Amino acid sequence: MASNNKSVSTPEPDIPFSQKVLSWFDQYGRKHLPWQQNRTPYRVWVSEIMLQQTQVATVIPYFERFMKRFPTVGKLAAATQDEVLQLWTGLGYYARGRNLHKCAQTVVDQYQGVFPKTVEELESLPGIGRSTAGAIISLSLDKRATILDGNVKRVLARFHAVDGWPGQTKVAAKLWQFAEEHTPDVRAADYTQAMMDLGATLCTRSKPDCISCPLTSHCMGYQQGNPQDYPGKKPKKTLPVKTTQFLILQNPQGHILLEQRPPTGIWGGLWSFPELSVNEDALNHCQEHHGDIDTGQPWQSFRHTFSHYHLDICPVHIHIKKVTAKVACDDQQRWFSKEEWQQLGLAAPVKKLLDVIAEPSLNMTLNLV
Ligand code: ADE
Repeated sequence: MASNNKSVSTPEPDIPFSQKVLSWFDQYGRKHLPWQQNRTPYRVWVSEIMLQQTQVATVIPYFERFMKRFPTVGKLAAATQDEVLQLWTGLGYYARGRNLHKCAQTVVDQYQGVFPKTVEELESLPGIGRSTAGAIISLSLDKRATILDGNVKRVLARFHAVDGWPGQTKVAAKLWQFAEEHTPDVRAADYTQAMMDLGATLCTRSKPDCISCPLTSHCMGYQQGNPQDYPGKKPKKTLPVKTTQFLILQNPQGHILLEQRPPTGIWGGLWSFPELSVNEDALNHCQEHHGDIDTGQPWQSFRHTFSHYHLDICPVHIHIKKVTAKVACDDQQRWFSKEEWQQLGLAAPVKKLLDVIAEPSLNMTLNLV
């Protein structure tokens, strides 16, 4: 074991964290990304916003198209929101695109088109948080500033074995403190990029490549043998359970009855099946409201989970022999052919069930209850 040899060999000098990270970066870091060329605050800012929740490979073509169309913050500020969002289409999280546009207008109106040079001023702009502000300052001006994005949180939580979920103020404060302590006074841009790269390429969420990592000798997560347990996960709430019946009504032409949900609330504006309380008899209800029933078949129940409750769904597939005049066929409720419902905005479990109707051999991948 190496520890036996340590007493006879010269002790390893204690190389600072940042120096290890920078040496690793010199050999393995990314240096040819489009936003690393001609690094202006404007280009770094656009790239940082695009890179939030989005992979580098996805961002590259969007960044290049964006820079061609809006080469300066002034050109971006002068565009319409539609033009900006059009170039954002497919990147997702559209609030980012709207904030980017607002931010460009603020920089033009309040800062004469020149990005401010302090973290505090940048942080006051729309869509720029503390870490993004640090990234803009360090990457574009090569000035010391600290970042703590998702990748860096993971590296530091493992290195210092910081317990708890970083969404908690206390945990975040600890991580910010470590991030501040490790940030060197030199090579600000390289260090920021290095920390991002380390988190994105080695210290990954599920399979960290500790063998290749320059930090293992002092990494507490590695020493403990459980780096992947950090950072702690968001605590799971016990959610209440609600139940409902989905009435999958099919007329003799094979069309399906759907109704549009109210514009607000869950699945707002989307099309879904008529619902009935689980205490009511689906066949009687349909006989009364929709027409003579041919067959009725309960399907396997399944669970759909929202952020604030579980919904246990009991689907009942009912063939109607003859649709009575009583059936509502107003704007909220209509019969749809397969070609028609495929064009609608559907709630996710509704889409799954309709896919089974269209293709009965499909294996339902639902959470059975
Ligand atoms: N993610 C966020 N910022 C990044 C950058 N500058 N390079 C690569 N990935 C990133």
